[in-house]
Amino acid sequence: MDDDRHRQSRLVTDDDGGFDAERAHEESLPIEDGEVIDTDELADHQRYVEDRGIYDERNRVNDLTGREWKYATKSVIDEGYPPDVQHDLRSEHGGQKPPRLCADLIGRFSKAGDTVLDPFAGVGGTLLGASFCEHEGTGLREAIGFERNERWVELYREVLERENEERRARGEPPLAEQELRYGDCADLIEAIDDDSVDLLLTDVPYWHMDELEQTRNEHETRESKLGSFDGTERDGDTDANGDGSGTKAEWLEDMATKFDRFADAVTPEGHVVVFIGDMYREQSYEFLSADLARAIESTAPLTLAANLVWYDPTKDLHVYGYPFSFVPSMVHQNVLVFRVEGE
Ligand SMILES: C[S@@+](CC[C@H](N)C(=O)[O-])C[C@H]1O[C@@H](n2cnc3c(N)ncnc32)[C@H](O)[C@@H]1O
Repeated sequence: MDDDRHRQSRLVTDDDGGFDAERAHEESLPIEDGEVIDTDELADHQRYVEDRGIYDERNRVNDLTGREWKYATKSVIDEGYPPDVQHDLRSEHGGQKPPRLCADLIGRFSKAGDTVLDPFAGVGGTLLGASFCEHEGTGLREAIGFERNERWVELYREVLERENEERRARGEPPLAEQELRYGDCADLIEAIDDDSVDLLLTDVPYWHMDELEQTRNEHETRESKLGSFDGTERDGDTDANGDGSGTKAEWLEDMATKFDRFADAVTPEGHVVVFIGDMYREQSYEFLSADLARAIESTAPLTLAANLVWYDPTKDLHVYGYPFSFVPSMVHQNVLVFRVEGE
């Protein structure tokens, strides 16, 4: 290696041997994780992307550069997403997810132009996330959602309309409208071609989620979330979904059957990504994420690749057991990542 090449490929260090970003910047050299890259040295499959690092053209998972990919492998997402994107409207739902968190996950597990499906779409966290990818990511994803509660379908449209009015007023381009289909996902999935979805990103309903969503009282919601998962009556209601998901076992079976069918729609190189919160109830921890992962794996041709933990630092702490019993304050949710099993 000649001297000049040696200069460009070594770490740019200051007098103490630390990385000197300022100097690297002054020398106008692209930097990958502190290392200065000689762009003449890039392989045919590598491309330097200004300010983002090196993109590998063989990347089949996403549009991230090596540097971004490394960051995206972190098993904890420790970000409290601010209550934006018409949060007041969306919070009528009660189980809504931050659209920008969805956009981040979409960016990790799909490429620009890919198709994303959310069979339990609610007020459209996934759909809005897919639209954000056009302006705050590597490009628009086409998203399709299913939702069986008409109110949430209406609300998604209202959210999009208001958000776009505000964006136009700020001189920003509007978010694309995605397709939210009204109906039961078990029926609507039949209209989706096999192997046509690159990413299935969803947030599963609990056994009586519909009722939880309809209460705007946060405290009541939290209390009722701690309700029965063993089929015993709670407020005279054992099966509020009306779909046989009254007990935990029935709920798991229902989810496993649905994901088995959903998996047909996902391409062999695609991913299935599922939000699921664990719960604490009746003095024991319900490891719902583990239970759901095993139930899905045992039925659907999907293999668990990761459990990402979304830690939301903005969540309030509670003191239910104090000072006699340890009761966790649930400030995280799990994000199960499945790969489609090879033929
Ligand atoms: C946890 S919420 C999803 C919230 C969503 N991530 C958001 O950001 O608004 C689950 C949604 O699934 C819907 N749902 C439950 N069972 C369904 C079914 N069989 N078909 C379609 N939607 C269903 C519920 O009405 C609920 O809105």
